[in-house]
Amino acid sequence: MSEEKEPKTKAKKNRNYLTGREIRAIVRSNNKVTRALEKKKRRKAKEEEFLTTLKDDRNILEVEDLHTYFFTEQGIVKAVNGVSFEVPQGSTVGVVGESGCGKSVTSMSIMQLLQGPAGQIYSGEIRFKSYDFKRDAKGKPIPVWEKDENGEDLLTEKKDRHGRPVLDKEGNPVFEKRQKRDAYGTLQYEMEEKVFNIAEMPIKEMHRLRGRQIAMIFQEPMTSLNPVFTIGNQLDEVTLLHFPGSTKADAKRRSIEMLNLVGIAMPERVYKSYPHELSGGMRQRVMISMALAGDPRLIIADEPTTALDVTIQAQILDLLRDLKTRINGSILLITHDLGIIAEMADFVVVMYAGRIIEKGTASEIFHHPMHPYTIGLQRSKPTMDSEKDTLFDIPGNVPNPIDMPDYCYFRERCSHCTKKCFGDYPEMVQVSPTHWVACHLYDGKEEKGE
Ligand SMILES: Nc1ncnc2c1ncn2[C@@H]1O[C@H](COP(=O)(O)OP(=O)(O)OP(=O)(O)O)[C@@H](O)[C@H]1O
Ligand code: SF4
Ligand SMILES: [Mg+2]
Repeated sequence: MSEEKEPKTKAKKNRNYLTGREIRAIVRSNNKVTRALEKKKRRKAKEEEFLTTLKDDRNILEVEDLHTYFFTEQGIVKAVNGVSFEVPQGSTVGVVGESGCGKSVTSMSIMQLLQGPAGQIYSGEIRFKSYDFKRDAKGKPIPVWEKDENGEDLLTEKKDRHGRPVLDKEGNPVFEKRQKRDAYGTLQYEMEEKVFNIAEMPIKEMHRLRGRQIAMIFQEPMTSLNPVFTIGNQLDEVTLLHFPGSTKADAKRRSIEMLNLVGIAMPERVYKSYPHELSGGMRQRVMISMALAGDPRLIIADEPTTALDVTIQAQILDLLRDLKTRINGSILLITHDLGIIAEMADFVVVMYAGRIIEKGTASEIFHHPMHPYTIGLQRSKPTMDSEKDTLFDIPGNVPNPIDMPDYCYFRERCSHCTKKCFGDYPEMVQVSPTHWVACHLYDGKEEKGE
């Protein structure tokens, strides 16, 4: 999509409101763009159209120049406005920033969960390394068969759905190949690695990734769990949906194992419970077990502990860390809590008004913050040894998201502003192999780490 197609969103000079005619013009123009984007999402596409390659094979996720917009009748809200970052395999990447800076919209874009037609991925790439079923010519997953020590297929008596042996015309039992199962008794299929560009994937294809390869844990588990079904019912569904050929008994066995893994003491009882019968911490554990049931490679946790008290919060964070190692996966951890980031993250991405203003390793961001906003964020963190009565706050507000300026978005709040800051929006400057900052103070200081 080209930038020229965007509707005009500015009211005429010296007016803070839009007239009916201006709103109608915006809606017309929005409809044109969103109809095209919706059509693209609902198209039938061959896999080649959304297959891609990673820039660095050590990553599991690469987001490049992502633009996610909301087409409202007041104009276009550029909630995510050119965001690029990577999640290396096996690492935890923390995304921080104040409320409304686009953290959740970034994660919703990765899952293609934006509410259309208003919310749309407008442009950019989301490259994800998936570990998907290998499929035959008809698109069916290829099972892994059990072999004996000579490499011959192991055979077993064929049973019908009621568990009775199937007999041939002569009354002899029929034998069939035996499909391999994992440690939880779930049927195994041949797998292969594929890199998908999620931004180009039709919405129908997303079921291959959502819940299975990429799992999401939300802030308030009660809103993600269905109140009218038991925990067991909802957990079983993950296995039944993502592992073809699984029976109800397979699903139950896996569900109970998952509840066990997340430290639930009486998994059989919780399996039969309804969400309202559990405490907040238990519900979050259930959500994590549900995320885990799909055997994901990437877990997106959006404020996973905000609704919990401090003790439970610490337990849930421990659990997440433990699970990451167990599944050898990666975590994209979204939070506004710098304490959680310090404890959990290997890399940190700092967002401000829909853009990344600084990114680096956790140590770089905590010990050598460079952007005035990141420095302000660190100063606003309460500490035990602070003698001040009041906390430091960053003065001023974020600019209007519909009418973003073309200069640095932080300028009105910045106390380090120079003449250059009255020019264009600052480019990202690389100050170390892993540290990047978008601020004019560092122009010309590339890779010297000054
Ligand atoms: N449905 C929508 N329509 C219009 N604008 C929206 C919509 N959803 C989100 N936005 C805008 O997108 C921007 C980013 O929102 P987002 O939910 O990603 O913020 P966040 O960083 O997750 O904040 P928080 O810490 O409060 O969760 C906000 O400015 C918000 O106004
Ligand atoms: S570019 Fe200028 S206004 Fe923006 S954060 Fe840097 S110093 Fe402040
Ligand atoms: Mg959010």
